[in-house]
This record gives sequence, C-alpha cells and structure tokens, in this order.
Amino acid sequence: MSESNIFADRMLSLGLARVSEQAAIAAARLIGGGDEKAADQAAVDAMRTQLNALDIEGVVVIGEGERDEAPMLYIGEEVGTGNGPAVDIALDPLEGTTLCAKDMPNSLAVVAMGPRGSMLHAPDVYMDKLAIGPGYPTDCVTLDMTPTERVMNFAKAKGVTAKEVKVCVLERPRHQEMIAEIRETGAHIRLITDGDVAGIMHCADANRTNIDMYMGSGGAPEGVLAAAALKCMGGQMYGRLLFRNDDERGRATKAGITDFDKIYSRDELVTRDVIFAATGVTDGSIVSGARWDGGYLETETVLMRSKTGSVRHITYRQNNNI
Ligand code: FBP
Repeated sequence: MSESNIFADRMLSLGLARVSEQAAIAAARLIGGGDEKAADQAAVDAMRTQLNALDIEGVVVIGEGERDEAPMLYIGEEVGTGNGPAVDIALDPLEGTTLCAKDMPNSLAVVAMGPRGSMLHAPDVYMDKLAIGPGYPTDCVTLDMTPTERVMNFAKAKGVTAKEVKVCVLERPRHQEMIAEIRETGAHIRLITDGDVAGIMHCADANRTNIDMYMGSGGAPEGVLAAAALKCMGGQMYGRLLFRNDDERGRATKAGITDFDKIYSRDELVTRDVIFAATGVTDGSIVSGARWDGGYLETETVLMRSKTGSVRHITYRQNNNI
C-alpha cells in the first residue's frame, strides 16, 4: 500500500474538523428561523463541499438517506478528491434539525471517518440504544435486561443507590412505559426532545453532564455516529435495529444485514479505529454553539481519535463579513 493510501488519521482529523465546522456555520445562520429543511440543506451543501476538498477516496455509508431520496450525501455517494485512502464516512450535517430551527440546545454538525468497512451500514430505521460511560465492567448493563435491571446493575457497579443514577431518554410516547419503570427504581431522568447523538455522548463525560446512562430508541444512523463518538471517548454502547414493516426489513437486507435481531456492541457498530468531529450549532453541554462576536463568527469543535483517545476542543473564528 502506498504512503498516500494509508488511513493517516492523525492528519486527516484536522481536515475533518473543517468539515463539521463549515456545516455548523452554514446551519447556524438559520438558527431560530423555524425552517428545519433550509437549515439542514445549508449544512448538507457546506459539508459536501468540504468533504470533496479532502484527499480521500470516501464513500458515505451513513448519510442523508438512500440515493433515490437524498440528492446529496446519499448512502453510497463518493466524496473526496479520489487521491488518498479509501475511507467510510458517517455523517449528519445537522443532527437535531428541530433544535436548530427552534434555537434549542445540543444541535450539532457531526462526521466520523474510518478505513473502508469500519462502520455498520445501518439502514434508516429505528435502533434500540443503551449506553453508559467508561470505567464499568463489560456487559454490566445490556439491552436484554429490563430498564429496572439496567438501573440496579449500573448503580451497583457505580457503588451508589438507584436514586443517584440519572438516565437520558428521548421524550416520545413510545418511551412512556420505560420512563415510568425507570422512575419506579428511584433513578432520575433527563428528557430530551431530540438529538440522541449528544444524549449518548453525555454518558462519556458524566462528571460534567450528570448523565450516567442513555436508553431508548432513535435513528439507527445516529446510533452508528454515537458509537463512533464513544469509541473515541470511552464507554459502552449496544444497539438493536427495530423494524416496523417489510419495507424497513428490505432496506436492511439491501444494506447487507442478515440477522435482524442482532444486538450490536459499540465495537460491532464501529469495528476499527475512527476519527470523529462534532461542531456546535446551538449551545450545548458537549460544545458551545456558534456565536457572533463583533465582525466574527466563532465555533467550537470536539475532534477525537479512537486510536489514541485524544480529544481536542478547537475554537475557530472567521471574519463574518467575507
Ligand atoms: P433529525 O436531526 O433528523 O431531526 O433527528 C433528530 C433525532 O432526534 C435524532 O437525534 C434521533 O435519533 C431521531 O431524531 C429520533 O427519531 P424520532 O423523532 O422519529 O423519534
């Protein structure tokens, strides 16, 4: 393999930060405007332009949808100059479109990159998700357990009572029973209206975010992105695809999935070392949102490499008048 074809994640990661930065900046100009689609489209356009400037032979494996439903950054789209390593890309140019449109916390521009074949080609279906931060015994909580068992086992592993455990859950009618059961244990719940990539990332930084555990279903593509983040930050995650009809099963088959009941661990969702970048669009607990300061626009990006566990917070400032 020639030098230029090796996945040089150290240098590529810096380029990846520019990708999420520019997507976030494009969306940030539409924060609070009430138009989810316009904000998403702006982020998609900017992310695509930046990806195409990178010296990679990239393929989008987690993208904006399938080729017939997404004009850009669709699954299978080739990106990059074509000169460089063959890489898989998982992206969500605007994770939390509604959060951005309503100026609510934790909308992010997110992108992950790894060598070809490093990420599960998850179809756009739901995924049941469970995550905790680093430092706990492997499998101390699993998707096979009831919510009560998960809370109790986690509390035991942490050496606290259930009352001292906080679980993050997407506020959805489908989660009502689970929420009631978690509350029965005495554990506390942080409900979020959207954005489970950030929700799961919170678990890896529990001292700062106060979130110990994430539970519930959300988008499968977001599940792969969250697994990429946790692979860099540490922590355990499990995901099981959920199918509502034959069309969704068909999508999974097309993506090469044969075992529809499989529970994927974090390292089965993301099998090799990856790099991950997320830039804040609106303010959040992972990174600050884009802000205007005089004639400047400033963003904060978290840039991580799973190979070394390195985490960089990058502040970027650009002249807002150009
Ligand atoms: P969008 O950015 O596509 O709006 O997704 C936001 C999100 O909240 C994800 O974080 C989450 O995985 C998914 O939607 C949950 O889906 P649903 O709104 O159908 O429950």
